[in-house]
Amino acid sequence: MAADVASSLGRCTHIITRAIPDSLCQEALRTKSDSTVDPVKVRHQFEQYIEAFKNQLGLNVVELPADESLPDCPFVEDMAIACEGTALITRPGAQSRRKEVEAVKKALQDLQMNVVEMTDENATLDGGDVLFTGREFFVGLSKRTNQRGAEILADTFKDYAVSTVPVCDYLHLKSFCSMAGPNLIVIGSSEAAQKALKTMQQMSDHRYDKLTVPDDEAANCVYLNIPGKGHVLLHRAPEEFPESVKVFEKLKEHMLIPVANSELSKVDGSLTCCSLLINKSPNL
Ligand code: GLY
Repeated sequence: MAADVASSLGRCTHIITRAIPDSLCQEALRTKSDSTVDPVKVRHQFEQYIEAFKNQLGLNVVELPADESLPDCPFVEDMAIACEGTALITRPGAQSRRKEVEAVKKALQDLQMNVVEMTDENATLDGGDVLFTGREFFVGLSKRTNQRGAEILADTFKDYAVSTVPVCDYLHLKSFCSMAGPNLIVIGSSEAAQKALKTMQQMSDHRYDKLTVPDDEAANCVYLNIPGKGHVLLHRAPEEFPESVKVFEKLKEHMLIPVANSELSKVDGSLTCCSLLINKSPNL
């Protein structure tokens, strides 16, 4: 079972995204308090991101409207963990983000997903802390995600092993890693990133290949496996991380799509943050 499921990693028919509210520039949470988001550039970059899914890859993009009272609302990844036909609605670690789940839950119900809610008030979980490899889950224990959140994820997706990884220096586990293929983990070069990878390797009985990039931030990519296109990787643009892009360019079998994300990254938004990948095709 594991091998088949692993090879379906990245299969996707629908993408849920949410538009950027004006309030994001001033009010979205951020770890670097001095960062200023350019309101025009952030929308332009986000449009390019959505265009990649829609026009370059032909996916169905469900674009939820922005909510001005929820400045972090474009970061839909944190609101649900979707795997096969089930979506676990999270309980985000930041109190100010809890209401963001409502619109995402409705979109998942509209897509006929089996929606499971995290009702335990002791649990917190942000999707940015959840790395699904196709074989197992790794969950970062961070300021946003706790042990109880990881336990509920394990109860929801019983077919998969769930291991926890301490995350100290970053907002989320996926701030410095992501998948680039069924067996390939992209990882940053920092000591913290390498230590987290070592923990994941020790916890797994599977040996993953790794792709080490010089910049931790560039290690967050969106991997897709699209019929007729094969392996696809949305990665940060060369003008942002030229040395990391040289590493991605060694992936000769991947369709590489560079995407600029300098503005959302000022409010800790990575490439995976802004989309929820859903597979509605019958051949799971
Ligand atoms: N600004 C993204 C977050 O803090 O959750």
